[in-house]
Amino acid sequence: MIDTSGITMRFGTVEALTALDISVGDGVTGLVGANGAGKSTLIKILLGLLEPTSGTAHVLGHDIATESAEIRRLVGYMPEHDCLPPDVSASDFIVHMARMSGLPATAARERAADTLRHVGLDEERYRQMGGYSTGMKQRAKLAQALVHDPSLVFLDEPTNGLDPAARIDMLQLVQRIGRDFGIAVLVTSHLLGELEKVSDHVIVLDGGRLLQSSATSDFTQHTGGLLVEVLGGDAERDAFGEALARTGLTCRPRGQLVAVDPPPRDLSLHALVRDTAADLGLGLVRIQPDQAHLEDVFLTQGATHG
Ligand SMILES: Nc1ncnc2c1ncn2[C@@H]1O[C@H](COP(=O)(O)OP(=O)(O)OP(=O)(O)O)[C@@H](O)[C@H]1O
Ligand SMILES: [Mg+2]
Repeated sequence: MIDTSGITMRFGTVEALTALDISVGDGVTGLVGANGAGKSTLIKILLGLLEPTSGTAHVLGHDIATESAEIRRLVGYMPEHDCLPPDVSASDFIVHMARMSGLPATAARERAADTLRHVGLDEERYRQMGGYSTGMKQRAKLAQALVHDPSLVFLDEPTNGLDPAARIDMLQLVQRIGRDFGIAVLVTSHLLGELEKVSDHVIVLDGGRLLQSSATSDFTQHTGGLLVEVLGGDAERDAFGEALARTGLTCRPRGQLVAVDPPPRDLSLHALVRDTAADLGLGLVRIQPDQAHLEDVFLTQGATHG
């Protein structure tokens, strides 16, 4: 879908991207990084809206330097910032965008109605967009990215400004675009944990450099450690942790739980945890595998993020 080779972007003295080599395939790809990591800059370069200082890239087999009009025909783009005319209804706007992509009037109206239904804008679609909530604006922005039936969409921070429930709805929508509609998705977020649930692949940018690019499952693999909860409060949790440490295990409190690292030797971690709790007369509430999360990439690689 996307291949870049040595993309560098300088704005005066600021280097927004440094010799970036990435490749993006089918499905949903999360592009994560802190504010200023270069996510939006990369998307604008891929769309041919910004010319890189150096490097080359291809989107859907087309060269960004010479075929950007073709790329913009095939790719949908949901920009980060507000791009909606305030005095027009979503319905009129999306029909207009469909006409702009070349559809005849009747087909454009049908296609717009379908798209607005998919993104979950119902009766509100006949109201002027200036009066929309942030959640409704994000849905209208998503609809305009999808209405011309693209084979790839760039969604720049679609969850920005949304409350927790609306965030989950938007992420489910992103997942459906990838899975049910078969449209490849490149979606950005500065929240590392957010994309791991919906992305097949994750690319992590840090200060304009590629930090990691892997299948999401590689990030979230079972670590071999356990999370354990015992009955009682902090005192019981700490007593349990100290007793585990005396058996030679490495562990630390994580909230109300104790996180136990994988054992150094060939020990049965489950049995050891069970016996230690029994020795102390502590009730076990639960034992579960400890999973790595995207955040751990930053912790283990010592990257800076805000
Ligand atoms: N037009 C511009 N002129 C000067 N500097 C720019 C311009 N656009 C981006 N930058 C700089 O490039 C860097 C990367 O910015 P970019 O907007 O791509 O980051 P981002 O990852 O999208 O961040 P955010 O999460 O805040 O949206 C920043 O240091 C930014 O200040
Ligand atoms: Mg951005």
